[in-house]
Amino acid sequence: MPTNHISTDETEQAHDVVRHGRLSGTRNADIASLLSSMEADRYIASHDVRVDIAHLLMLADCSITSRPHAQKLMRELIQLYDEGVPQSVFNPAYEDIHAGIESHIIAMIGMDSGGRLHVARSRNDEVATCLRLYARSAALAQIESLLALRLLLLELAQEHLQTIMPGFTHLQHAQPTTLAHHMLAYEQMFARDTNRLLCAYEHINASPLGAAAFASTGYPIDREQTSRDLGFQTIVENSMDAVSSRDFACELLSADTILEMHISRLCEELIIWNSGLTRFVELDDAYCSTSSIMPQKKNPDVAELLRSRTGTLLGAFTSAITIMKALPLTYNRDLQDLNPHLFSGTKHIARDLRLLAGMLQTAKFQKERMHAQAGEGYSTATGLADYLVCVYDIPFREAHNIIGRAVRADSLQLQTLDLAAQEITGHTLSEKGLTKEEIDRVLDPAYSVSSRSNFGGPAPSAVKQALKHRKEIVKQHSTEFFALSQNVSRAEETLIEKARQFIQENKENHAEHKTD
Ligand code: ARG
Repeated sequence: MPTNHISTDETEQAHDVVRHGRLSGTRNADIASLLSSMEADRYIASHDVRVDIAHLLMLADCSITSRPHAQKLMRELIQLYDEGVPQSVFNPAYEDIHAGIESHIIAMIGMDSGGRLHVARSRNDEVATCLRLYARSAALAQIESLLALRLLLLELAQEHLQTIMPGFTHLQHAQPTTLAHHMLAYEQMFARDTNRLLCAYEHINASPLGAAAFASTGYPIDREQTSRDLGFQTIVENSMDAVSSRDFACELLSADTILEMHISRLCEELIIWNSGLTRFVELDDAYCSTSSIMPQKKNPDVAELLRSRTGTLLGAFTSAITIMKALPLTYNRDLQDLNPHLFSGTKHIARDLRLLAGMLQTAKFQKERMHAQAGEGYSTATGLADYLVCVYDIPFREAHNIIGRAVRADSLQLQTLDLAAQEITGHTLSEKGLTKEEIDRVLDPAYSVSSRSNFGGPAPSAVKQALKHRKEIVKQHSTEFFALSQNVSRAEETLIEKARQFIQENKENHAEHKTD
């Protein structure tokens, strides 16, 4: 049975320019497969090309690499940018994408120019930079999807201000609330998730490039320039920290783990609401699967898979942080093993958020059934106790006991309440003036909800206020997101424009030269 997909032939065919000076012989497939990060490096290949372009422009501007060589190199890099990194580069016989691209370039334009790209840097600062570029775009895509989901939750809340439903504690009918209030609870959680991602983003968005292996370099490089050209907000100042820290990745994975935890809670509720036990919601067919044997089945598989994703994320986060734990400074190859966890943990988060939004948007909420269940299990009994406190000046604990005793007798009729009050206090409630009409009014779930109009409560008046406030916060987050993503895309456009001009200059100078 083949132990991996690298054939010895392939391994031998690829000429890894990094290895062959210091090391002799060939590696067998097992060694190559352990050493190579090529498979995971697919996630950073396009970022690596941009890092190369920024680095090369800086080398030329700082007169570290002469223009003719730099321009030759740039032509190759722009081709990789425009056409993508060719399949042949993704040969796991190369230790990584950096060695693969460098080997490819040298094969294309020869050692004299091709061998001048990897000066004044190391793969250590190179990969750290690529990972930050990857993490930056992953975080932005996630924030964008979070904002869309939050807007949808606000719309649902607006639509369901009056949709009364049971609220649960211990998964038992507890007190009535509204679907709007319930949706806003999740919107708040997702707002904190957005905040966590924005904070993580700040730590991600710093350039390690120029740290070289770890001890910087003697070449007169310009770290400011590469940082700016790659759209980073700042520079990771200490060169040892720059190459060896991955807390930015752990932070993103941790924010994503918490985010998936929230997704899983909402999905769990959708699963319960969609089940025959409550039938509060009907999920759209697109988000369901059926059974291969039970023809009647319509199962909430998308919600279930989204619920399970928290496990995947926690696994990725735990792996990443455990790999980092106790690693001495600076670069150690263990760091490479963290990368696949960063990719596998983060790559589907934006998709998950889109799926959740789509599932909610197409779900049919069974308002009548929700309303009918809102008063189940004596869910408005607290309101009755409060009423006895406020109108009849009964101490809360006494009211709580009277009503508890009546519930034990399975009735909140005036007669039962009187009996309970008589037993506990020696007086009936009718004596104090309590009537059946008052009891009926107070026990109505709609009354219960509308009486809870404090800040943050479920009363439609309070939820309307909350909605205004929440819309403001989404707006602020959107503005922040928009500015960040503009910065990133502008930086990329500017960098590529600069690189194209750099090649162009060559042609013009050349043309001038010829006419001279
Ligand atoms: N592929 C490596 C990584 O992902 C970067 C290469 C650094 N290798 C080295 N031996 N210093 O971490």
